[in-house]
Amino acid sequence: MKDDRVKVLMVCLGNICRSPLAEGILKKKLNPENYLVSSAGTANYHRGKLPDDRSIAVARKYGIDITDQRASQFTKRDFEVYDYIFVMDLENYANVLELASSEVEKSKVKLILNEASPNKNLEVPDPYYGGEKGFENVYMLLDEACNHIASRI
Ligand code: 4NP
Repeated sequence: MKDDRVKVLMVCLGNICRSPLAEGILKKKLNPENYLVSSAGTANYHRGKLPDDRSIAVARKYGIDITDQRASQFTKRDFEVYDYIFVMDLENYANVLELASSEVEKSKVKLILNEASPNKNLEVPDPYYGGEKGFENVYMLLDEACNHIASRI
């Protein structure tokens, strides 16, 4: 059966901190009958792992369970599957664009914070080496961005 859902992919580096949170947050704002939301990392270091404990904790604090997620790596095929590819920072942006093979594919890739602050090219900071505040801040940035995404797509 054809899957007519709008498909959104959230991308960061490791797919254990930022993009799993973005996936969980956006999923909660959309009807799963109409939207597929997933996430991936540009690197493969963490493939198969659960999200970072600190991402799990901050998501749980706001009523979102992300423990069903497992890290995966972004591949060229994702350009065929997904309609929107939201990246967290400029490094992710460059790494994903490098794998695009057409202008249509390139046009699917957006810096996620531009949804809330158009054209500013702000980045979701990598919280991996930071403390709890880092994850709380990431949650707030992504929640605001996902409100804009959910109201537009
Ligand atoms: P993420 O964070 O890209 O938000 O998942 C990171 C996770 C792991 C590493 C870097 C960033 N790492 O270097 O292992």
